[in-house]
Amino acid sequence: MRIKEEKYNLNGKEVLLRNARPDEAQMLIDYLKTVTGETRFLMCGPEEVQYTVEQEEDFIKSYNDSEHKLLILAFIDGEYAGNCSFQGRTGNRREAHRAGIGIALFQKYTGQGLGKLMMRKLLEEAAAKGYEQAELTLVDGNTRAYRLYESVGFQECGRIPRANKYEDGTYADDIWMVRKL
Ligand SMILES: CC(C)(COP(=O)(O)OP(=O)(O)OC[C@H]1O[C@@H](n2cnc3c(N)ncnc32)[C@H](O)[C@@H]1OP(=O)(O)O)[C@@H](O)C(=O)NCCC(=O)NCCS
Repeated sequence: MRIKEEKYNLNGKEVLLRNARPDEAQMLIDYLKTVTGETRFLMCGPEEVQYTVEQEEDFIKSYNDSEHKLLILAFIDGEYAGNCSFQGRTGNRREAHRAGIGIALFQKYTGQGLGKLMMRKLLEEAAAKGYEQAELTLVDGNTRAYRLYESVGFQECGRIPRANKYEDGTYADDIWMVRKL
C-alpha cells in the first residue's frame, strides 16, 4: 500500500512521512539492529536480526505492492527516525476486518510527539482502507508505548503471562490492546 508523501511541523522540526524505497533495505536492517538493542520491549535482540539486503528489499516491495499492509517511514529534518506499519489479516474472511499495528523509533527520537503523529496517520490510513479494528501487543513495563496507545484510543483487553523470557532469566507479560476504527 502506498501513501502520498506528507510533511508536518513538530516543535519546529520538519517531519516527513512516506513509504520505504527498495534501495533503503540496508538502512532498515541497520535500524532494526539498533532499535532492538536499545530496548527490551521489541520482539527480539539485535543478534537475531539476520535479514539479507535481498530479503529486506522483498519485504519493502511486499508492503508497497500489497493492498493489505502499509509501512510508513518517518524522517525528522531529513534523518531517518523510525517506522510504523499495519498488516491486515488475510487468512479467513471472518478476520479480514482486523489490522495489526507495529511501531518503533530510534531512542533519540522518542518522547517528542513523533510516535503520536505517526500512529494517528497509520490509524487514519487503516480506517480509510475499511479496517474496523486495530490491534497490537506490547511488553508489560513499556510505559511510554502504553501511554501512546491509550492516548490514541486503544484499550487493554488481555494479557499473556510470561510471554517474554530474557537472558537474565526474568519474564515479562504481553499486553493486548484494541481500538475500534
Ligand atoms: C513507543 C514509542 C513508539 C512512543 O512514541 P514516542 O514518540 O516516544 O511517544 P510520544 O512522544 O508521541 O508520546 C506519546 C505519549 O506518551 C507520553 N510519554 C512520553 N514519554 C513518556 C514516558 N517516558 N513515560 C510515560 N509516558 C510518556 C506522552 O506524554 C504522550 O502522551 P500524551 O499524548 O497523553 O501527552 C517510542 O517511544 C518507541 O519507538 N520506543 C522504542 C520501541 C518501542 O517500544 N516500540 C513499541 C513496541 S510495542
